[in-house]
Amino acid sequence: MTVAAVITAAGSGTRLGAHSPDGTAPKVPVPKALVPLEGRALVAWAASRIADVAERIVVTAPPLAVDAVRSALVEAGVDALVVPGGDTRQASVAAGLRALMLDPDDIVLIHDAARAFQPTEVMAATIDAVHAGADGAIPVLPVVDTLIGAPGPDGVIGDPVDREGLRAVQTPQTFRARVALDAHRVAEAHGTPPATDDATLARALGHRIVAVDGHEWGFKVTRPSDLPLARHIAQSLSGGRA
Ligand code: C5P
Repeated sequence: MTVAAVITAAGSGTRLGAHSPDGTAPKVPVPKALVPLEGRALVAWAASRIADVAERIVVTAPPLAVDAVRSALVEAGVDALVVPGGDTRQASVAAGLRALMLDPDDIVLIHDAARAFQPTEVMAATIDAVHAGADGAIPVLPVVDTLIGAPGPDGVIGDPVDREGLRAVQTPQTFRARVALDAHRVAEAHGTPPATDDATLARALGHRIVAVDGHEWGFKVTRPSDLPLARHIAQSLSGGRA
């Protein structure tokens, strides 16, 4: 039984905007995974943290950036196999799971490179929950915003939604390997619209997925306004202050 990880880093990062190291927009977009923070690519931050809890790591990269992602990981001293991702996150995860060649009893973490600063304590808590008997475990946070139904074409807002009954989902999403493999095999076979996370696929098959406490630092680096916080955390970690 080993603990392994898939890091999904094959997104284009179009919502983030393309940032060169000096913050100006380059002519050729930089994939999100390669956005530099304190001299280290976003994907390398994610991989170096997950290396604390996983013995084997596969990273899915944009097909045109496989070599660049590999170089970024080597530069950061992270040992990982880099494979091309798919058209959707779900397809990228499936490619990563195939490359890991898992035994059914292994434990596998599926983690978004974009959540590069999720503390290792949260990752360890998901692994502990699977060791304790859950089929899968995911980090969640309470929802802080007021929620409503989307406005109609006339601009009139929909019904309020009780946020107390909701949670925001983070990664890593951690499973007994047989559960993750089963979930992705069935999803691929059925050709249903791609899911945005893996727990949804596993839960749909009746697997028992539990929640652990997530962390603010597990936010997904998505928009340009996320970059100052990401830089701040990277600086804290580089300086040994966090
Ligand atoms: O697009 P979104 O922000 O939901 O992506 C979540 C994660 O999935 C990111 O780390 C992104 O790099 C990854 N992804 C992927 N393959 C895709 C699309 C997204 O690995 N085709």
